[in-house]
Amino acid sequence: MPAKLFSPFTIKGVTLKNRIVMSPMCVYSSHNEDGHVQNWHRTHYTSRAVGQVGLIIVEATAVTPQGRISPQDLGIWSDDHVDGFQELVALGKEHGAKMGIQLAHAGRKAVLEGEILAPSALPFNEKMKTPKEMTKTDIADTVEAFKTGAERAAKAGFDVIEIHGAHGYLINEFLSPLSNKRSDEYGGSTDNRYRLLREVIDAVKTVWNGPLIVRVSAHDYHEEGLTAEDYITFAEWMKEQGVDLIDVSSGAVVPAPIHVYPGYQVPYSETIKKGADISTGAVGLITSGIQAEEILQNDRADLVFLARELLRDPYWPRTAAKELGISIEAPKQYERGWV
Ligand SMILES: Cc1cc2nc3c(=O)[nH]c(=O)nc-3n(C[C@H](O)[C@H](O)[C@H](O)COP(=O)(O)O)c2cc1C
Repeated sequence: MPAKLFSPFTIKGVTLKNRIVMSPMCVYSSHNEDGHVQNWHRTHYTSRAVGQVGLIIVEATAVTPQGRISPQDLGIWSDDHVDGFQELVALGKEHGAKMGIQLAHAGRKAVLEGEILAPSALPFNEKMKTPKEMTKTDIADTVEAFKTGAERAAKAGFDVIEIHGAHGYLINEFLSPLSNKRSDEYGGSTDNRYRLLREVIDAVKTVWNGPLIVRVSAHDYHEEGLTAEDYITFAEWMKEQGVDLIDVSSGAVVPAPIHVYPGYQVPYSETIKKGADISTGAVGLITSGIQAEEILQNDRADLVFLARELLRDPYWPRTAAKELGISIEAPKQYERGWV
């Protein structure tokens, strides 16, 4: 039976040539602190396209300057950013990859000069800044920034948009009762804590009708926090709003320890996929072709997202194919050395 890892997957009319996704990874390489694409990005992402990754999701890209994690993050808060992304997208597509971008706002995890924003004025830990509690205007401006970011991503030619709702950044801070202590309509009940994400998705969808992914942290690792069961409800709402796939990560909304082992987040993907009847991506210490194949064949996810393994091996699709005893198409320039 042919490997499912190398079978195509279609999301909203966009067909990925295989199930391998380069998980978003910040490379902190916008050296001029202006959020622009640099040669490093061109080389780094294009190498994985040459390596036959099906979908490349460009790292957390800030929708506002204060939404960056660091001054070296990529940004999409200005029309000036579009040209750089257009070039990056064209390079990736030239080698057969589909190109995605992760739209992000760091919230209270921004390590920047000046004011940083969050649902409540609570720092992540004692070493980090205390954020300002967002006003309704701050919230409306942020929703608008995700929308204009999505509009620019569409202009740049991206195939896929992923909204960053994980890892304790702004959207995750609103979702979790551990970081959201608001008493207005953006805090308290589950649907109130979901309100920001609901508004962001609706706003993005007014300018984007392509595949939409949301990355979530499906476990807070805290007794008063959220679990994958809670995320079934969020995923059902996202599905109703037209989100196509949930990229299931976990943790980092509070500094709780995480017990990490191969495939540790796969059960959360499985819970959400079955619980909400929605497509999912699994991520976290997925490193071998056999492991990836097990996840897909047992319907625990529709896509596998790899991060660090693709840093070590940009041609991991070839490595995985060899492990599974099959051969995949090579870039024609590499045919003599690919087998
Ligand atoms: C250098 C680095 C940068 C990362 N940056 C991001 C990011 O921009 N957005 C995001 O959602 N996750 C980010 N992550 C998390 C990865 O996407 C992935 O979820 C995590 O590393 C687990 O997968 P792995 O075991 O395959 O590395 C980053 C991870 C690394 C190692």
